[in-house]
Amino acid sequence: MRSVVKGSGFVVGEHLVPNARFEKIMDTSDQWIRERSGIEQRYFVADGTSTSDLGARASKIAMEQAGVGPQDIDYVVFATMTPDHYFPGCGSIMQSKLGLRNIPALDIRQQCTGFVYALQVSDALLKSKVAKTLLLVGAETHSPFMPFSDWPTILGLADNEPTPEQRALHTSVRDRAVLFGDAGGAIVLQREDDETERGLIDFELHADGTGYNKLYVPSGMAHRPYVSPEIINRLDHVPHMDGKFVFRMAVTKMPEVVRSLLARHNLTIDQIDHFIFHQANLRINEAVQVSLGIKPERIYNNIQKYGNTTAATIPIAYDECRRSGRIKRGDLLCFVGLGAGFHWVAALLRD
Ligand code: ACO
Repeated sequence: MRSVVKGSGFVVGEHLVPNARFEKIMDTSDQWIRERSGIEQRYFVADGTSTSDLGARASKIAMEQAGVGPQDIDYVVFATMTPDHYFPGCGSIMQSKLGLRNIPALDIRQQCTGFVYALQVSDALLKSKVAKTLLLVGAETHSPFMPFSDWPTILGLADNEPTPEQRALHTSVRDRAVLFGDAGGAIVLQREDDETERGLIDFELHADGTGYNKLYVPSGMAHRPYVSPEIINRLDHVPHMDGKFVFRMAVTKMPEVVRSLLARHNLTIDQIDHFIFHQANLRINEAVQVSLGIKPERIYNNIQKYGNTTAATIPIAYDECRRSGRIKRGDLLCFVGLGAGFHWVAALLRD
C-alpha cells in the first residue's frame, strides 16, 4: 500500500517584484540581494488575494492533472504560517472555495518544513484508510507582514519617493523584506492498495524549540492584549530573525537529516535521482550540496524566481521538475528542509 502523487500544481502572487523595486523604498541593492541570497525577483499578491485563494488556485491545477473533481477529495491538509485569519485555519476556508464536500480539513503550522510535515500526516491518513484521495496544500502570503507604507510603488503600480522616515522604517526590516514571496503549491495524493514501488517511502522529521525566538513573530497570545499600539510600534507583528543563526542551523541540520534517512534505507547520495531542497537562500543550498557531495544536475533550485515561499516552496519546485520532464516516472526523490520552530526534515518519494 502506497500514497502516490496523482497531480501537482502551483500559482504565484499576481505582481512580479524584481529586486530593483526594493531599491526604491529602502537602502538595499539588487547586487546585495543576489549575492547574499540568490534571489532576483519574487511575486506578491494583489490586494484582496489571500493564502486560501492561492491554495485553491493551485489545488484546481493539481486536481485537473490528477483527473479528480471536488466530489473525489475526502481530506484536506493545508500547510501555512500565514493564514487568512488568526482563526479559523485555511483548510476549511479553501474547502468551501473549492466546493468540496464537508470533509475534514486540517491546518499544519510547521513553516518552511510545513509541506513535508503535512506529507507525513497525509501518508498516515491514507495508509490508515481514513482517506483515499487527499488534497495537500502549502501556501503563503508573506507580503502583508511587511510594514511598507506605499504598496503601489512596491507592486510597480506607482513610482513614489518614500519620506526619509518611511525609508528608515523599510530599511530596518530589509534583511527579511527581500527574502520572501507569495505563492501556493498543491498535490493530490491517493492511496494505491496494490502499489509497492511508487509513492511516499519514508520520512525523518525533527523539532527543537529551544531557539524558537531566533525566527518568530513576537506578537500573539503570549501577550494580553495580543495586539496593541506598542506591539505595532516595536514591529513585533513583523517576523524577527537572526539570519546568521538560521543559516548555521540549515547548513548543519539539512545534511545531517539526509545522511540519517538515507542510512536507514541503505541508500547512497548517488542513488537519489533528484534532491529538492527548501529554498531559503541559494548559499545555504550550495553549502549543503557540497557537504553531501551531490552532483549539480541532481539538485534543483528556483529561489532566483520566487524567493522563499515557505510551505509552498517544495511543491512548487516539485511541480516545475515534473512538468519540465526533469523528473521521470520511477525516479527517486529526496525532499529536504529546515524552518522556524526550529524543524528540520527529509522525505523519500518514488515518483
Ligand atoms: N540589503 C542590503 N544590506 C543588507 C540587507 C539587504 N536586504 N539585509 C541585511 N543587510 C546588511 C546588514 O544590515 C549587515 O550590515 P552591517 O554589516 O552594516 O550590520 C550586512 O548586510 C551583513 O548582514 P548579515 O546578516 O551578516 O548578512 P548575511 O550574509 O548573513 O545575509 C541573510 C543575511 C540573507 C538574511 C542570511 O543570513 C540568510 O539568508 N539567513 C537565513 C535566513 C532564512 O533562511 N530565513 C528563513 C527561514 S525559513 C522559515 O522558516 C520562515
